[in-house]
Amino acid sequence: MFDSPSIIAGLEIGTSKVCAVVGEENESGALTIIGLGQAPSRGVRKGEIVDFELAAEDIRTAVAEAEQMADVEIRRVYLGVTGSHLRGLNNRGYHPVASVDREITADDVQDVMRNAKAVSLPPDHSVVHTVRQHFLVDGQGGIQNPVGMLGARVEVDVHVIHGVRNRLQNALRTVKGLQIEVEEVCFNGLASAMAVLNSEHKELGALVIDLGAGATEYVVHANGIVKHSGVIAVGGDHISNDLALGLKVSLGRAEQLKIEHGNAIHDDGVRGQTLTLNSPSGLIEKTINLEHLRRIMAARVEETFELIAQALEKEGFSDCLRAGVFLCGGGAHIPRIKELAGEIFDLPVSLATAGSLSGTTAALDQPEFCTGIGLVKFGSMQARGRTRGGRGFFNLRGALGSWLGRR
Ligand SMILES: Nc1ncnc2c1ncn2[C@@H]1O[C@H](COP(=O)(O)OP(=O)(O)O)[C@@H](O)[C@H]1O
Ligand SMILES: [Mg+2]
Repeated sequence: MFDSPSIIAGLEIGTSKVCAVVGEENESGALTIIGLGQAPSRGVRKGEIVDFELAAEDIRTAVAEAEQMADVEIRRVYLGVTGSHLRGLNNRGYHPVASVDREITADDVQDVMRNAKAVSLPPDHSVVHTVRQHFLVDGQGGIQNPVGMLGARVEVDVHVIHGVRNRLQNALRTVKGLQIEVEEVCFNGLASAMAVLNSEHKELGALVIDLGAGATEYVVHANGIVKHSGVIAVGGDHISNDLALGLKVSLGRAEQLKIEHGNAIHDDGVRGQTLTLNSPSGLIEKTINLEHLRRIMAARVEETFELIAQALEKEGFSDCLRAGVFLCGGGAHIPRIKELAGEIFDLPVSLATAGSLSGTTAALDQPEFCTGIGLVKFGSMQARGRTRGGRGFFNLRGALGSWLGRR
């Protein structure tokens, strides 16, 4: 079977795993996940490709597995991007209404959107997303579609996500080199939020944190719109590095200790406890102080949440998150991470999954696949926007044209 318009594929080239997800949309628009493939990622550090050949091999493996499971051929994907160079900012565009009768037209809307996108960026940066938040007509905000309304001035608030052009292009070029077309790119944090949040959460206000291996992405929704986004250059790999250094063990051993004995909270319950590490031949190799391990790990996880909490406070979003915090990514597996996030953000916390989508695969329950599944959801929304003659919710294509190199 070849891919048809109802087949949508998402690809996350993560630091710990490459993951391809296939969704199928029926005539009524319901989305089912029908395939998932993954491969350990060897060519990525901190969310960005550092070895093209290895990354290409891992993508090929993940895509082949997803193709086999879904029984489709993947020719184009919605590609997830991340990296600490990505930045989110809010901007407002202005436009005087041109017509004599002051009725706002579709052209006015296009002009004001163009104005809002004209953000002054560093010269090496490109816009990844311009997410429309709401329109204002003569200062009255909260308007979804001003066409047909009367006014002298129309404005639009947008959330712009931008990043270093060359670094974004690395992921694109690797995928294209495999004869897979990149339909559009999507910031991983937005994709995860799409998989995890329903419209009520978005309305009430929610913070989604995706705790990956090389980076942690976060996105704030409130009043139904994207308010804020960011990437923290700290992830699970940093915890393992800290453990390797602090406990004087190999990186591989540190990763294993983290998974088997790690915890987000350090408490007195482990005081004086030790772990014995054996060599492959069964000899006692080393004794590890569990209290020390827990203290090192808790400090890193705490730091990650604190950085996000500070960023939200600075932007004034701490008080508008009534649906609370949603944790996903592999880091959501860390025992008691929910408790720690609750203490730091002083909000209700949920361990998130992409459970609102139906599908045959058990991975829907695993927090590390939220991005991949969210990319499929993003693709489905964008495709629907296009067939309705719109430009998709995120107004991506115009912004991306220049560096996607096809328009
Ligand atoms: N039980 C666990 N305890 C601690 N860390 C975990 C656990 N399970 C997974 N992780 C960590 O989650 C990270 C992988 O998450 P993932 O979302 O797949 O990353 P990425 O998207 O960057 O590839 C790794 O750093 C891994 O060590
Ligand atoms: Mg990830």
